[in-house]
Amino acid sequence: MKAEGALFNCVTLCSVLFVFAFGAQSNHGTFWHVTDFHYDHTYMTSQLSCVKGVNNPSILGNQWCDSPWTLVTKTINAMKILHPDVDFLLWTGDTVAHISNDKMNVTINMDVMANLTKAMNDTFPDKKVYATFGNHDYYPASQFPAVSNIIYNETAELWKQWIEDEEQLTNFRRGGYYTRLLPPHNKVRIVALNTNLYYTSDKITVNETDPTGQLQWMRLVLQLAKSNSEKVILAAHIPPGIHTPRGVQWFQDKFVQPFNSIVKDFADVIKAMHFGHDHYDGFKVFDDNSGKPAIPLFVAPSVTPWRFILNEEVTGSPHNPAIRLVTYDRDTGDHVNIDQYRMDLSASLPQGDGDFTRLYSFTESYKLQDISATSLDSLITRMSAQAGGDDLLNTYFNFTLTGAQFESCDQTCKTRILCGFRHYTSAEFNKCERDNSDASGTGSRVAAPTLLIFLVALLSLLR
Ligand SMILES: *[C@@H]1O[C@H](CO)[C@@H](O)[C@H](O)[C@H]1NC(C)=O
Ligand SMILES: *[C@@H]1O[C@H](CO)[C@@H](O)[C@H](O)[C@H]1NC(C)=O
Ligand SMILES: *[C@@H]1O[C@H](CO)[C@@H](O)[C@H](O)[C@H]1NC(C)=O
Ligand SMILES: *[C@@H]1O[C@H](CO)[C@@H](O)[C@H](O)[C@H]1NC(C)=O
Ligand SMILES: *[C@@H]1O[C@H](CO)[C@@H](O)[C@H](O)[C@H]1NC(C)=O
Ligand SMILES: *[C@@H]1O[C@H](CO)[C@@H](O)[C@H](O)[C@H]1NC(C)=O
Ligand SMILES: [Zn+2]
Ligand SMILES: [Zn+2]
Repeated sequence: MKAEGALFNCVTLCSVLFVFAFGAQSNHGTFWHVTDFHYDHTYMTSQLSCVKGVNNPSILGNQWCDSPWTLVTKTINAMKILHPDVDFLLWTGDTVAHISNDKMNVTINMDVMANLTKAMNDTFPDKKVYATFGNHDYYPASQFPAVSNIIYNETAELWKQWIEDEEQLTNFRRGGYYTRLLPPHNKVRIVALNTNLYYTSDKITVNETDPTGQLQWMRLVLQLAKSNSEKVILAAHIPPGIHTPRGVQWFQDKFVQPFNSIVKDFADVIKAMHFGHDHYDGFKVFDDNSGKPAIPLFVAPSVTPWRFILNEEVTGSPHNPAIRLVTYDRDTGDHVNIDQYRMDLSASLPQGDGDFTRLYSFTESYKLQDISATSLDSLITRMSAQAGGDDLLNTYFNFTLTGAQFESCDQTCKTRILCGFRHYTSAEFNKCERDNSDASGTGSRVAAPTLLIFLVALLSLLR
C-alpha cells in the first residue's frame, strides 16, 4: 500500500513537474536545411566540375569537385536516418554543378533538377520541401530573367506537390517565389524568394528596378502576415550583406537598399532568414529601423565540398559536406537552436563509408539560451571583447569551414568577420574595416576612399 501510494504520488507530482519543466517547450518543431548540392552528373565519367585534375575520385566526393550521386543520396538518407520526424525541409538551391555553359543546356539542367526533386520526394514522401532556386539552377548559369521562361515553368511542375497552391504556383512561374503557411498550426509562414535576380553575376536584371515584381510582392506578403499576426521564416539562395572573411557583396548595389529596407520594416514579423550560396557556415544579425538587433540571418554550409579557384592561385578553404537541423517554436517562429552535421570527407576516404555526424550545437558551443537576434548580438559582443584571446572567434571560424580547418584566421580575417556580422552594405562594411584595422595600414587605406568621395561629390555637382 505504502509503496503504491508513493508511486501514485510520484506519478502525479512527476507529471506536474514534467509539464512545468517541459511544457513551455512542447511546441518546438524541427526542420532540415540543405543547400548547394551541386550534383555533377559527369562525376563518374569526365568530372566536368573538378577544378583540378583528379584521377580516380572517391565515390563519396572530392574537395576539388562537385557532388557525385553517391554523396547526394548519402546526404538525403542521412537526414532521414538522423531525424526523420521534421515538420518540413528547406532546400535553398544550387542543385546544378559548376560546369561551364558550353557543356550544359536546359535539358541537362532540368534533368538534374528532376532527379534531385525525385530523390528528396522519395525519401520524404510525407513531408513538404520548401525549395528555392540557386543561381546555378538556370541555363545559362546565373542569368535569371525578369520574364516568363521554361525553367520557371518546368520547375513549378516539379515542385507543385510542395507548393500546392495555384496562386503561389503562378507567382513561381512569374519569378521563382512563393509563400506557404506552415500546417497544421498556421502561425508561421515560409516566404521563399528568388534572390538570384539581385546577384552581381546576373547580367539580365541590370536595368531593372524590381525584376519580376518580387520586391513589391514581398512587401505585400509581409504586410498581410503582419495583419494576420503570423510570423515569417524567410528562405532564399543568395544572402544579402557581405560574405566574410572574403568581404564580397553578392547583391548588385541598387538592390541592397530596397531589399534591406523591406526586411527592416518588417523586423517584428520576420523571425529568421536562411540562405545558402556562400558554401561556408555563417550568421549575421539584422537591426530594425531603430538600430536594435532584430532578425537572425543564417547561412547554411553546402553539401558540395567543391573549392573554388580564382586566377589559378586564390583558392577557397577546404570544407566538408554539411546539413543542419533547426529547432524553432511552431507558435512564435522563434528560433531555438541549430545542430550542424557534416561528413568528415578526409576521414571518410578512401573507404567510402563516411557518415554524417554532429559537428556542433549552436547553443551549447556558444553557451546561449537560444539563437534569437538578441542572443547572437550578445555573442558578437563577447567575440569583439576578446581582443587577443579570440577563442570564440576561432570557434566561429572553425565552424565556418565545417571542421575541415587547417587554416587560421589572421587579424584582417577577424576584423572582417566582426564587421560583417552587423554591416550590410559595402560602404558601411568598408568603413567598419577601416575604423578597426590597426594603425599601420591606416594612411593608405584612408587615402583612396577619401579621393573617391571627393570625385563622387565633384561628379554629382557637374550632373
Ligand atoms: C544537351 O546536352 C546533351 C549532352 O551534351 C546532349 O546529348 C543533348 O542533345 C543536348 N540537348 C539539347 C536540347 O541541346
Ligand atoms: C536522371 O535519372 C535518370 C533515371 O535514373 C537517368 O537516366 C539520368 O541519367 C539522370 N540524369 C542526370 C542528369 O543525372
Ligand atoms: C512524390 O511522392 C508522391 C508520394 O510518394 C508521389 O505521388 C509523387 O508522384 C512524387 N512526385 C515526384 C515528382 O516524384
Ligand atoms: C509559363 O506558364 C504560363 C502559365 O501556364 C504561360 O502563360 C507561359 O506562356 C509559360 N511560359 C513559357 C515560356 O512557356
Ligand atoms: C541596359 O541598359 C544599357 C544602357 O541603355 C544597354 O546598353 C544594355 O544593353 C541594357 N542591358 C540589358 C540586359 O537590357
Ligand atoms: C580551430 O581549429 C584549429 C585547427 O584544427 C585548432 O588548432 C584550434 O584549436 C581550433 N580553435 C578552436 C577555438 O576551436
Ligand atoms: Zn553554390
Ligand atoms: Zn550560388
